[in-house]
Amino acid sequence: MTILGIETSCDDCCVALVKDGKHILAETQASQQSIHGKFNGVVPEFASRSHLAHITPLVKQVLADAGFAIKKVDGIAVTAFPGLHSSLLIGVSFAKALAYAASVPCVTVNHLLAHLYAAQLAYDIAYPHIGLIVSGGHTQLGVVHSYDNFEIFGSTIDDACGEAFDKVAVHLGLGYPGGIEIDALARRGSWKSARFPDSKLKHRSQYDLSYSGLKSAVIHQLRLFWNNAYPYSIVNIAAAFQKKAIDMLLTRIATLVQETGLHVVVGGGGVLANSYLRHALQNSPHYSAVIPPHALCTDNASMIAGVGYRYLQR
Ligand code: KG4
Ligand code: ZN
Repeated sequence: MTILGIETSCDDCCVALVKDGKHILAETQASQQSIHGKFNGVVPEFASRSHLAHITPLVKQVLADAGFAIKKVDGIAVTAFPGLHSSLLIGVSFAKALAYAASVPCVTVNHLLAHLYAAQLAYDIAYPHIGLIVSGGHTQLGVVHSYDNFEIFGSTIDDACGEAFDKVAVHLGLGYPGGIEIDALARRGSWKSARFPDSKLKHRSQYDLSYSGLKSAVIHQLRLFWNNAYPYSIVNIAAAFQKKAIDMLLTRIATLVQETGLHVVVGGGGVLANSYLRHALQNSPHYSAVIPPHALCTDNASMIAGVGYRYLQR
């Protein structure tokens, strides 16, 4: 079964053709970084207009690359939730119209389930396992029981992890999205230069997280937490912030592993590119981590086609 996947939940317009939920026949995407970069964040109206401009040529390109006619596709899968409404609207409307015109079925896919499925495109991972989604828009931890059943144990109650990286990066003059720059600077700094307190989340699950306090501490109150034995430098700021932001995830993963007895942790989302997070996940003595290749961690349409295949097969 060959499924055309469409992903327009945020600022990447992505299209892919995937066979049997596993084999990527063709994929492409149009990044909007040059549009949103100067605003230090995604501008929804510009995002949806760009999706509208790119979606038809991208679909044509993927079909041509794979040598496929649209009528030979077994179905179309499209991200329907969660995301920016105006961006989702373009993908969903386009997918429904194309499916109607080509007389093929159309299924909608939850973006977060797709992030968790992405690893299945590269490996065969048994269910259940622990799932971690860390991106610019989402931060969630839980147990993945199947491709369509994610039991969420904890989420951020405010900013996503990647969003905190991006806001701190803008504050440090590193541009947007600046997670990768913080990562690079942190390698040259000392995380011991500042000690940030844990966020106190009253009446919340022990797995929930908060990033807005850490973000504000770095941006507005850094001197309060600074260790004066260290120079007040950008590399040290980056290292201290990164360590705290990632350790919040690592401690919760460790607890969930212990509590559930599940020893495989599968990741998804662009923050998995972070070198400190990757190193910690891959070297834990308590679990084995599955981190998909970078192109499958960030937003992509192959993961949408993968989940769509499972639905249509069912
Ligand atoms: O999944 P993704 O490509 O897009 C969405 O959020 O939908 O994730 C992008 C996020 C951005 O916040 C970016 O700054 C962050 O991932 N990111 C990183 C690194 N590379 C990308 N954060 C920390 N360290 C990195 N190396
Ligand atoms: Zn995403």
